[in-house]
Amino acid sequence: MKKGCFITMEGVDGSGKTTQLQLTARYLLDRGYEVVTTREPGGTKLAERIRNVVLDADAAVNPRTEVLLYLAARAEHVEKVIRPALEAGKIVLCDRFDDSTMVYQGFVRGIETDKVKALCKFAADNVQPELTILLDAAPEALLQRRADRGVQDRFEQEGLDFQKKVRDGFLLLANAEPARVKKVHALQPAEAVQAEIRKILVDAGF
Ligand code: TYD
Repeated sequence: MKKGCFITMEGVDGSGKTTQLQLTARYLLDRGYEVVTTREPGGTKLAERIRNVVLDADAAVNPRTEVLLYLAARAEHVEKVIRPALEAGKIVLCDRFDDSTMVYQGFVRGIETDKVKALCKFAADNVQPELTILLDAAPEALLQRRADRGVQDRFEQEGLDFQKKVRDGFLLLANAEPARVKKVHALQPAEAVQAEIRKILVDAGF
């Protein structure tokens, strides 16, 4: 039986993950792989409903409530979409997964790392990404790029200090697991970012 592969893309808000996910999917499809693209929180009807709730909640929501909402969405997503696709031998490309929870709910919102890790394992029933692309850039520079393009959303609302902390959290994870988490410089033109990602995929055997 073909073995599927689970690949995630992570990074601060506004680092270009969505564009790169699409370009990466196109590359893999062109190489003959079956690819499922999806995102967290989301990916199923119920999980998308949880997404609306959790992304709409005001910043004062209790961190324990927040982590459980993200992970409720994840449990659904894994059971209904990710695991079946992997079992069918497909490549699953997912915008955010466990690393986002470790960073946003653990590192930034302060829930103990070991606790977040255990909860993530439980929610995903041990389904874990084999490869993670981290789109990394200094939040100050991303903010400038976004201002130049006239983009205004959560990135600006959450503020620079928040985004810097998110970046630091991702970098810690990348340093702790260099074999799985591959860092790519996100401030280059999209084609150059994609070229780096393709090199990582080639090195990983795709
Ligand atoms: P999204 O619009 O997908 O963000 P972006 O396009 O900027 O990547 O929103 C996802 C938000 O949810 C993002 O701010 C990170 C956050 N998040 C968590 O806090 N914990 C999680 O476990 C996940 C998956 C996302």
